[in-house]
Amino acid sequence: MAEEEVKFRVSIDGIPVDVAPGTTILNAARQIGGDIVPPAMCYYSKLEGSGGKCRTCLVKVSKGSEKDPRPMPKLVASCRTTVMDGMEVENITSPDVVSARKAVVEMLLINHPLDCPICDQAGECKLQDLGYEHGEEQARYEFARRTFEPIDIGDKIQLHMNRCILCYRCVYVANQLTNQREHGILYRGDHSEISTYIENALETDFIGNVIDVCPVGALTDKTFRFKNRVWFTKPVDAHRDCPTCSGKVTLWYKGADVLRVTGRKDEFGEVDEFICDTCRFDRKQTSDWKLEEPTPVEKYSVIGSNHYPEFNPPAVIKEDKKLQTANKEQFARTEKLK
Ligand code: SF4
Ligand code: FES
Repeated sequence: MAEEEVKFRVSIDGIPVDVAPGTTILNAARQIGGDIVPPAMCYYSKLEGSGGKCRTCLVKVSKGSEKDPRPMPKLVASCRTTVMDGMEVENITSPDVVSARKAVVEMLLINHPLDCPICDQAGECKLQDLGYEHGEEQARYEFARRTFEPIDIGDKIQLHMNRCILCYRCVYVANQLTNQREHGILYRGDHSEISTYIENALETDFIGNVIDVCPVGALTDKTFRFKNRVWFTKPVDAHRDCPTCSGKVTLWYKGADVLRVTGRKDEFGEVDEFICDTCRFDRKQTSDWKLEEPTPVEKYSVIGSNHYPEFNPPAVIKEDKKLQTANKEQFARTEKLK
């Protein structure tokens, strides 16, 4: 008889879930889904070693485990903390977490310019979403922001270091998907910056994926820059027989023109399968592709607005008074979009 799989029971914002030992709190929350999933600006499930850099995923562990119920003394990064059996976690039900997240967003925005109106990432930027949900109207920072000139790294990718939040995802992409990493984070602390070694161009088969994993507009696709706002484009899933990658992509249409090609993303904004640079940059004719169907856009993003059914909060939130109260901001936002 097959051995029964050991599971740990953990509750997040009062919702129980059984997960395998070794699962992080963030991934346990993702198994529940909905608004109780902490935001993640640096963790990326497909990139080994990612996480632990941005602190947007902080949560409160109000009960450590069944064996040792003491709460953890400080908020913890949910992407780096594994669950214990009987653990109780608070995310949006904890005022401490909500206030810490506000502070993290304020810090991420210290040097980040508010240039969403001219940024290609607008509409699919995680920092824009966070700023909208947790941002203060007034910044308290009074010192000069650090600024950089945009740099062309290769003929297809542009780096706007002003917008970088130093999440390291692009460095992991280069390390893990290409056979030659030519960029990294130089210096320390406030001086840290993404840089290519001796201004080398990033030219390898899979390096275009840095554009998809960048949570902000720091790395953008030069073949798409300023062509259109994403919410005016129509995403369609398509595939082709590609000798280098799976060939499964999303084509972003404006009328009959394919303006850009990206990997397909899941509900957490992560690419399902990384795609090669040929599919991304050199196949922009409909005839290059076999079309499947319009890309489902479940998230209540501007890309989905006017195209998709209204956002329905999960039943568990609708029925739970405690969650509803703590979730006021989220509800205000979704109400606004109805
Ligand atoms: S360029 Fe983008 S992906 Fe790379 S570290 Fe900066 S924010 Fe992260
Ligand atoms: S997602 Fe956990 S620290 Fe960045």
